[in-house]
Amino acid sequence: MRRDIAELFELDPDLTHLNHGAFGAVPRSVREAQDRARTRIEQAPMRAFRDELPSALATARESAADFIGVPADGVALVRNVTEAVGVVLQGLGVGPGDDVVVSNHGYLTAGWSAEARGATLRTATFAVDADPADVVAALAEAMTDRTRLVVIDQLTSPTALELPVAAVAAAVAPVPVLVDAAHVPGALPGLDVEGLGVAFWAGNLHKWAYTPRAAATLWVAPEHREAMRPLVTSWSHGLPYPERFDLQGTVDHSSWVAVPDGLAAWRDLGGWEQVARNADLLVRGAEHVRSALGTPDPRAGIRSAPCLRLVALPDGVATTTESAEALWQQLYAAGLVVPPVSFEGRGYLRLAAAPYNDEDDYARLAAALPGILGA
Ligand SMILES: Cc1ncc(COP(=O)(O)O)c(C=O)c1O
Repeated sequence: MRRDIAELFELDPDLTHLNHGAFGAVPRSVREAQDRARTRIEQAPMRAFRDELPSALATARESAADFIGVPADGVALVRNVTEAVGVVLQGLGVGPGDDVVVSNHGYLTAGWSAEARGATLRTATFAVDADPADVVAALAEAMTDRTRLVVIDQLTSPTALELPVAAVAAAVAPVPVLVDAAHVPGALPGLDVEGLGVAFWAGNLHKWAYTPRAAATLWVAPEHREAMRPLVTSWSHGLPYPERFDLQGTVDHSSWVAVPDGLAAWRDLGGWEQVARNADLLVRGAEHVRSALGTPDPRAGIRSAPCLRLVALPDGVATTTESAEALWQQLYAAGLVVPPVSFEGRGYLRLAAAPYNDEDDYARLAAALPGILGA
């Protein structure tokens, strides 16, 4: 780990952390800001909920909107992308008799939430080395005349790919598209949310933008805003979007209050220059691991996420969910926090690069892998 930067976080120094994408990591200064927000609320809950939280949450919402480059009236704060998906499905009234299209690279959130509402899931399938045109064709082909919503990940979770969201939205129009952008804020430069041509875009701030966990954004296109309601409805009655999402009953609002502190930490850590440094580190780090394994680089049909990347495991390794889980346990026991991924019958490691990582982290993983896989 890069000691000077690692000191700003509270990560266990005995572990090699190469999985920032899963849950992020909260810098100490941001955790302290959240603690201060909690303390302030506890000192006078009545004062906090009535007099202080409304303006603190408006400030948090504005800073989040500014961060993702959209006007503040389009962005609601939610706790995570899972919640955002629930809000959208509820707002559109998706239910029995409706189809929702997802992809085989999608995260569990959308599929399970749609099925829980009685909708039928249609899964578009494309390979890890597909070209962008294959992605668009697969999603368009999965559509039926009952499709109410298409959900597409902008940066995919199991495969770390940057999917052609705008082209998909154009191909499936006028059916609305919800972008699962869980990994995007603070990780993907050049973002133009309003220019994607989608109806909904949801991104976590707690993965790559250094806010406390349980802080995420839901941007909604103007024509859908009126129908969107928070899942926790108390105190939202009569308020317009997005203010109606601010005070969702007596939940812990401290992670939202500390959003501006998290985004300031992202800037202090170097902002997009830091992301470029991490992307470059990841190319070199993946090469350490790939050469230790002797596996080929997957063909790059679609660009990888800047700070997330797959390295293929040898044939027969982690090809099922169970064997990937067993390998995860072995790696973890060796102090290596890196997720094996089983995707379409082939095993991979998903590597991440965060500010606290250095090349030694990947070299340590590369040195340990032959022994772990041989055992
Ligand atoms: C692509 C994607 N979508 C959604 C999620 C869920 O995020 P959350 O647990 O914050 O709702 C994740 C989590 O890793 C993810 O990778």
